[in-house]
Amino acid sequence: MSHTVEHDIAQNVMHLRINRPEKKNALTTDMYTVLADAVDAAREDDDVRCLLLTGTDGVFSAGNDIGDFLENPASGDDHPVARFMRTMAAFPKPAVAGVVGPAVGIGSTVLLHCDLVYAGASTRFAFPFVNLGICPEFASSYLMPRFMGYARAAELILLGEPFTAEHALSCGLINAVVGDGEAETIARTTAEKLAAKPPHAMRTSKDLLRRWSREHTQQAIREEAELFMAMLHGDEAKEAFTAFMEKRKPDFSRFS
Ligand code: COA
Repeated sequence: MSHTVEHDIAQNVMHLRINRPEKKNALTTDMYTVLADAVDAAREDDDVRCLLLTGTDGVFSAGNDIGDFLENPASGDDHPVARFMRTMAAFPKPAVAGVVGPAVGIGSTVLLHCDLVYAGASTRFAFPFVNLGICPEFASSYLMPRFMGYARAAELILLGEPFTAEHALSCGLINAVVGDGEAETIARTTAEKLAAKPPHAMRTSKDLLRRWSREHTQQAIREEAELFMAMLHGDEAKEAFTAFMEKRKPDFSRFS
């Protein structure tokens, strides 16, 4: 088990904790492997009736590791990030997230695949794909307009600016804004509540909630990934990633 993603099972809840606070819980290829394997295991294990996703030390996740984007860009359907997205989007049991601090990139898009999300008041969400020379992922181009309407989805995706937990609540991305110190506890209590309910009725109800959009969601994940993976090799992305690593502002003035 990787130290940077921890998981344990208690009270029929599998708790997945992203734990790389020194890099704001940025996710590497190895971390996606652990996440994908754990979600697969949670699906198969009858003792697990709910998934709980949190970060650690006041940080949810700053998204994909940008160094990894540069040195080890994802490619192909069997890449761990692709596997994680597919399995998380198809997870048949309820999933609850407790977030606080940065929830950026996949740290925000993963929430579209959780059923209940509690965010600390200081959480800062962002979908910064355009600013990084890449495009939406994890079916966000499909699910965000559905969840919040086109105008708000376009604002969040095309401007890519950070936004508050209150705004996330008004967009229907999360269920409640809570105290920073309470997000994980409230998420856990809720996960345990869900896990104590009749499991077949729970799975059937979640299946129905997601059934009508499931095919489009998986199609969106595939089609976005094709574009996204190609764009990782593009000059705009290279400029954005290099600028982040060099702690400077990116300069896109030479691109057409
Ligand atoms: N990939 C790689 N390293 C990252 C990272 C990422 N996505 N996000 C943060 N880090 C690293 C920083 O480089 C820094 O490392 P260092 O201490 O070795 O210099 C460390 O984590 C702390 O980050 P820092 O930027 O100093 O923290 P902050 O509190 O000032 O800002 C964020 C937090 C999340 C707003 C900022 O780190 C950020 O914008 N990260 C990039 C988010 C992003 O674009 N992700 C990709 C989405 S597709």
